Amino acid sequence: MIEIDSITKSYGENTVVDAVSFVVEPRTITVIVGTSGSGKTTLLRMINRLVEPSSGTIRIDGRDNREMPPFELRRSIGYVIQGHGLFPHWTVAQNIAVVPKLLEWDEARIAARVAELLDLFQLDPELFAQRYPHELSGGQQQRVGVARALAAEPNVLLMDEPFGALDPVIRAKAQEDLLAIQRRFGTTIILVTHDMEEAILLGDRIAVMDQGKLVQYATPTEMLARPADDFVETLIDSGERPFRLLSLGKAGDAVEPGDADGPAISADKTQRDALAELMWSGRSALPVESADGARLGRITVQSLLRLAARPAA
Ligand SMILES: Nc1ncnc2c1ncn2[C@@H]1O[C@H](COP(=O)(O)OP(=O)(O)OP(=O)(O)O)[C@@H](O)[C@H]1O
Ligand SMILES: [Mg+2]
Repeated sequence: MIEIDSITKSYGENTVVDAVSFVVEPRTITVIVGTSGSGKTTLLRMINRLVEPSSGTIRIDGRDNREMPPFELRRSIGYVIQGHGLFPHWTVAQNIAVVPKLLEWDEARIAARVAELLDLFQLDPELFAQRYPHELSGGQQQRVGVARALAAEPNVLLMDEPFGALDPVIRAKAQEDLLAIQRRFGTTIILVTHDMEEAILLGDRIAVMDQGKLVQYATPTEMLARPADDFVETLIDSGERPFRLLSLGKAGDAVEPGDADGPAISADKTQRDALAELMWSGRSALPVESADGARLGRITVQSLLRLAARPAA
């Protein structure tokens, strides 16, 4: 658990993080969203003490992070720096191996871990392990940055706009990979982004920052239903709200008894996918099937419209 308790950072007269408090539950993803300059990176860097707060406390599993030796912070907290932050004169393999080396893993274990991570991020070790950062595309550099942060299997992962430079296809894949990694290792993740769509997709909770202040901390569903103020309302883009609500639900959760004509949709697709398919194929109902192809029932336009409507107060 990470407790951020009235944390403030000022540079001279300028307070860039202003009395922010929230609690991150273990094994969850918290996404910090806000416009440029709102204090997101500064807040993130106070968690691993790359920035010292002016006042307030951060506790990790009950311990004040100022009492934790830097070595322990570095081992237990992975950090993906905004804009990748790779060491330019080190190869991809050397970059990924930084923390395992600090931890004095043996060479064989380091090599195996580097190869495993490169595979996971779809970078062929044969082709990429010995390259230098300037020999990679921006998206490849970013993936190496994420791989490096995961190298020593940290319990906590801080990620500063990790997917910013990726095209939409690779980005969607990277987001899926992150969710899979998080489920597999139970990592506690705090991720910074500009993109509310990404926050809604990845976040168990979302923290919205505006001019150094935390304006709302809530689950995506709560935030869509009840944005705290006009700023949050602008970020969630009210015109998109019904679709964003549907993107949080699975088709399988909106199944009703009965059948329908035409190709079926898989129960693990989102309700938004189901609505798009209904509109595109001009049908009023779709059959829904499980991953192994069993018919579960159907999903109708009517039921989706009800689900996309303003949640009851
Ligand atoms: N070392 C510093 N000295 C003085 N001011 C700083 C320092 N670091 C950050 N700031 C200021 O603090 C404010 C918040 O910066 P921060 O990097 O946390 O913003 P951000 O929300 O991460 O923005 P972006 O989305 O552009 O990355 C900015 O106005 C920035 O200029
Ligand atoms: Mg930043």
